[in-house]
Amino acid sequence: MEKLYIHAEHKKSKIRKEIYGHFSEHLGRCIYEGIYVGENSPIPNTNGMRNDVVEALKKIKVPVLRWPGGCFADEYHWRDGIGPKEKRKKMINTHWGGVVEDNSFGTHEFMELCRQLECEPYITGNLGSGTVEEMQSWVEYMTFDGISPMAELRRQNGQEKPWHLKYFGIGNENWGCGGNMRPEYYSDLYRRYQTYVRNFGDNKIYKIACGPNTDDYNWTEVVMQLAGKFMDGLSLHYYTVPGDTWENKGSATEFDEKTWYKTLKKTLFMDELITRHSEIMNKYDPDKRVGLVVDEWGTWYDVEPGTHPGFLFQQNTMRDALVAAINLNIFNKHSDRVVMANIAQMVNVLQSVILTEGANMILTPTYHVFDLYKEHQDAELLESALTTDEVGVDEYRVPNLHHSVSMDGEGKIHITICNLSLTESRTINAQITGKTVKTVSGRILTGEMNAHNTFDNPERVKPVEFKDFNLEKDELKFTLPPVSVVALTVE
Ligand code: AHR
Repeated sequence: MEKLYIHAEHKKSKIRKEIYGHFSEHLGRCIYEGIYVGENSPIPNTNGMRNDVVEALKKIKVPVLRWPGGCFADEYHWRDGIGPKEKRKKMINTHWGGVVEDNSFGTHEFMELCRQLECEPYITGNLGSGTVEEMQSWVEYMTFDGISPMAELRRQNGQEKPWHLKYFGIGNENWGCGGNMRPEYYSDLYRRYQTYVRNFGDNKIYKIACGPNTDDYNWTEVVMQLAGKFMDGLSLHYYTVPGDTWENKGSATEFDEKTWYKTLKKTLFMDELITRHSEIMNKYDPDKRVGLVVDEWGTWYDVEPGTHPGFLFQQNTMRDALVAAINLNIFNKHSDRVVMANIAQMVNVLQSVILTEGANMILTPTYHVFDLYKEHQDAELLESALTTDEVGVDEYRVPNLHHSVSMDGEGKIHITICNLSLTESRTINAQITGKTVKTVSGRILTGEMNAHNTFDNPERVKPVEFKDFNLEKDELKFTLPPVSVVALTVE
């Protein structure tokens, strides 16, 4: 039996709701088809946005959405995506599949999507191939309420009042697809570009600098040293790729026990990454003014057989559910430094919460984890400790359990915990101090390791009520089956 100690009297840090954020790029069928079908589509929509997708996303309370990329962002010229749609420029999406981008989804459409989702927009500007003037005038176009050519242009295009825009990224992966820069060069460019990202009226921009690729600690060191005082956030990108090479990343659905544990071990590396990048940030920013923004994370497999290799469409199984659960627990536990995270990507690309096929839509196991975890949004992380065992195959050893605990504004405790073992169930004895426990309720997501939803069987994996617990005085005992994610609410 494992022990879980929860100290309700010890609140550690606020779990900002933005940790439950998403990312949408002009890539494959994410924006077009997945989210935006246009006003004239037979698929039910509101101002071009799919009603089924928007409704499902509202249920998991999407707090923030990043757009337009990704690699696409550093080739995106925002002026191509405004004005009458029939006049918008067509271009080739060189990064993703060489398909025609007709720019029918641009700034106004993105802001409309955020309005419907009731989420914060997070826009990434083009530093790699765009000019300072272009970045400056985009922010002015979106947020200036006075008299200026940009504000006038926005009004002509039908948006009288400026939009509220908080999060703005100054380039994406500028160490790679965003210009192959060295950190010294990027730091100088960052300092220059961000100067012209202005605050108009009461719109205060939270400026996010391009951070490291995975474990490039030198990037963090240099950028924090040279540009740290000019930024509010620093990004971090890390993908869980089970294969050993990019040419062979592994199948999303066909994998063995060893690959299960290998994937989970790789995803647990996120904890070390955040710890080590945070240590470097602590040197330059001991007051933790600059937030770590994990604005791309998730699994990356070989594309589904028969699909466009440039579209990054993959299925999503219970393995992805565990990856999501572990990462969200990690972000919760690092919420003193991690202020936002954006799973890649929202619909039909990489580790999506939703997959679509024509007019049909399915919710993935990852969606259900976001649903189980949504109570953590804006709650306070509680001090907790869990005893664990090791499970695995060969060198791929992982803890059998992984968890995080928070308390919301009403004093309810939310425990999210998962069982990484493929074979063993586990009983946990939880002791809670600092709160009198009256009732417990919960939901569980479980299934075979590669169980997934399909358009023929859309509800094979879905959460059900969790009943396998027993409450006696302040001691709560519960049992997790193998391959499971559980969310408990303690009142
Ligand atoms: O999410 C897919 C791609 O992965 C993004 O465009 C890029 O930023 C990253 O390399």
